[in-house]
Amino acid sequence: MSEYLLAEKIDGIQVLTLNRPQKKNAVNTEMWIGLREAFRAAAADDSVRCLLLCGAGDNFCSGVDLASFNDAASAEEHPFESAARAVVEFDKPLIAAAQGVAVGGGATVLFHADMVYVGQSLRLRLPFASLGLVPEWGSSYMLQANIGAQRAAELFYTAGWVDADKALDSGIAAAVLPDAELFEYALGKAREVAQWPVNALREIKRSLRVHHLPAIDKAIEVEQAGMMRQAGSAENIEAITAFLERRQPDFSKC
Ligand code: COA
Repeated sequence: MSEYLLAEKIDGIQVLTLNRPQKKNAVNTEMWIGLREAFRAAAADDSVRCLLLCGAGDNFCSGVDLASFNDAASAEEHPFESAARAVVEFDKPLIAAAQGVAVGGGATVLFHADMVYVGQSLRLRLPFASLGLVPEWGSSYMLQANIGAQRAAELFYTAGWVDADKALDSGIAAAVLPDAELFEYALGKAREVAQWPVNALREIKRSLRVHHLPAIDKAIEVEQAGMMRQAGSAENIEAITAFLERRQPDFSKC
């Protein structure tokens, strides 16, 4: 696959591991392309019953690689869009195991997972307001669907941190495990799923997702329009420059 995205098939379970631990598994262009291709291939392969997504090292994922964000924003079609689409359209159960940092796209991908398990170290954040951006990946809809409108709004507007207990209480995660046990637990759940026939799993997924897909499409349309206005704006440039310079942003002049 790629040094940044590890793929292993275990008893009908496609395990994908984000593997850029020195950058907290921030997803660069190569990884978005790898994710897109891996989700498409797993969907097409009948020997794959479900997919387990996890992060190497102590963290799940710190979202889009901010170092290349502004190149990405100006690209005609960044592979983030098609990778996000491949995840939204994935037609089999998606299971996620997240520990440590789960920020930006590293959080919003979890809202599309059918089953989410988290380590005690989880630190989840939706940083879009603090980056001068808008939510992505249909998360403005999916988080409301998963945990309710007001709880979702609080997380988007405050860009506050969510720990493992809050993730469990709010319904973002189904269980909290010690980090050392997280992968085996999630793999065990994936094995429970993978024992069943692939087309039954596909039909269940279809019936679970049918209510959400039109709303996700609408959310992505509105988010992308907002992203066009905000990416590269003075607010966004100040936020990203501040991150790269390791200082607090100053939005007073934006
Ligand atoms: N893009 C690019 N690099 C990232 C990154 C990202 N999204 N997240 C972390 N990194 C890099 C850091 O720049 C740092 O690199 P360096 O060691 O070469 O300086 C390394 O990963 C470790 O991160 P660091 O910030 O030192 O760790 P921390 O524990 O203090 O904080 C985070 C972790 C995730 C809270 C912080 O890195 C962060 O806020 N990252 C941005 C996340 C984000 O906004 N993502 C959404 C994009 S839409």
